[in-house]
Amino acid sequence: MKLLVVGGGGREHAIIRKLKENPQVTEIHALPGNGGIASDAVCAPIAATDLEGVVDYAVTHQIDFAVVAPDDPLCLGMVDALAQVGIPAFGPDKKAAIIEGSKVFAKNLMKKYGIPTADYQVFTDSKAALDYIRQGAPLPLVVKADGLALGKGVLICQTAQETEQAVHEIMDQKIFGQSGSQIVMEEFLTGPEVSVLAFTDGETIQPMISSMDHKRALDGDQGLNTGGMGTIAPNPYYTPQVAQVCMETIFLPTIRAMKAEGRPFKGCLYFGLMLTPKGPKVIEYNCRFGDPETQVVLPLLKSDLLTIMQATVSGSLAETPVEWRSDSACCVVLASGGYPSSYPKGLPISGLVEGQLPGSSAIVYHAGTQLKEDGTLVTAGGRVLGVTAVAPTLAEAIREAYAASDRISFQGLHRRSDIGKRALEAI
Ligand code: AMP
Ligand code: GLY
Repeated sequence: MKLLVVGGGGREHAIIRKLKENPQVTEIHALPGNGGIASDAVCAPIAATDLEGVVDYAVTHQIDFAVVAPDDPLCLGMVDALAQVGIPAFGPDKKAAIIEGSKVFAKNLMKKYGIPTADYQVFTDSKAALDYIRQGAPLPLVVKADGLALGKGVLICQTAQETEQAVHEIMDQKIFGQSGSQIVMEEFLTGPEVSVLAFTDGETIQPMISSMDHKRALDGDQGLNTGGMGTIAPNPYYTPQVAQVCMETIFLPTIRAMKAEGRPFKGCLYFGLMLTPKGPKVIEYNCRFGDPETQVVLPLLKSDLLTIMQATVSGSLAETPVEWRSDSACCVVLASGGYPSSYPKGLPISGLVEGQLPGSSAIVYHAGTQLKEDGTLVTAGGRVLGVTAVAPTLAEAIREAYAASDRISFQGLHRRSDIGKRALEAI
């Protein structure tokens, strides 16, 4: 079988490494891929958002099955475009991807179907939003741009002044472009966060092993929000009791709601949850695998990934086993100095041989790397590498991930030194 993976980050690398375990897979192509994915797949410089370019490539290379991993091509309708030329693809169609593409849609869906989430208001003009703040809206307030904003569209505001500024920036100055033409203002929730990715064919939902992201740039959850600086799985806060509550009050109701709205969701649905004192609530939905959650979840998957992905497309997930190892995993992200603000690119990376660490059982997932023509590997993004270790206990997985990442260097390398610390305290 010839596969195509659309995307080029650490998440896509983890998906490709897992897909390769299936002996029926003869070829994997990645668009655009990256310097490390190039060791595992044929990469071509076509942007993940280039619908026509990707479809042409898939037809020319006689792709049997595609996986669309990032949010923007999914929201643009990449799965629909591939289906039109007869290529089955893993991921939601455009109609279902709106669950991530519009926060207003997601919030209204949850309200309509009684799915627990933060209380909220929607505003389509800044004047009404400012009036709401000035009339004494409860603080802190969370201001969210409606559309996709590279994971940066959420501002947590402690004071009325900060909230007003957030509204100005998003709605008037359009710092997130058209994504900010509507906003959601919502109640600030507290509690441990859990990421649960789930396979679904629109009817059946099979949650994956839970994980915990570390979104802030600096140790102790300080600094700016990032795409994610590291992850651990499973998440110790997500007990079997919590899982059952989530299944009954969140996962199944969401799948049924999407179906009832005429938008059946197929693919991977990501539930960003907060375990509040009043029970689990949805912070966000994503229409795709998380990054770097995938880098700790997929190494723990015992079953064949391609078979499960095909079952989400054909609607046979109920008959498809999805089994997990009882180990733990930790992924430490190595980022460029300055990330998530501006950072340099093109710096040589040392310590890797063909993109991996010889003699180590840790896996190095490439996120922002580029392989130069002379064979040198250089940095090419904010998050550069994700180093994942799997071990019988979380403590060992953390130790091994850090020991492995100690062997890698580039100028300005930044990583958090406390990935998994909070989880260990909960065990
Ligand atoms: P998101 O981009 O939606 O994942 O939001 C980024 C982060 O902001 C989340 O992981 C939470 O830590 C935080 N956040 C979002 N919404 C809320 C909320 N209503 N209350 C507290 N924290 C929130
Ligand atoms: N790690 C968070 C996300 O993928 O959205």
